[in-house]
Amino acid sequence: MEVDHIGIAVRNLTDALRAWEPTLGTNGSAPEEVPGQRVRVSFLETGALHLELLEPMAADSAVGRFLEQRGEGLHHVAFRVPNVDEALADLARRGGRLVDTVGRPGARGRRVGFAHPSAHHGVLVEFVERP
Ligand code: CO
Repeated sequence: MEVDHIGIAVRNLTDALRAWEPTLGTNGSAPEEVPGQRVRVSFLETGALHLELLEPMAADSAVGRFLEQRGEGLHHVAFRVPNVDEALADLARRGGRLVDTVGRPGARGRRVGFAHPSAHHGVLVEFVERP
């Protein structure tokens, strides 16, 4: 599998973009709301590195709770898969712990699904459907 992007939880997307843009020498994408995850996201892409900055839209959202418990920082690693439902089913068959049993709408119009952070040393794993 190839890494699609790395997700970083931030308290404030505007502040985070101001911090990351000079470091990476590129501008973030226009902020996008992902209602299913109750986050606002922006992507920064430079070479093979694609970062997703995630700001919670509510304190009781998954990312809001993550920030409360752990603070800002690495939230998930996303891998490209040809079919997100199959990737989740394959992982379940291998005994993996899933957050989603089927894909759901994610950022940039792509279907995504998540595997549980407790199985990966606190790091959430995302599958992104990208044929
Ligand atoms: Co992501």
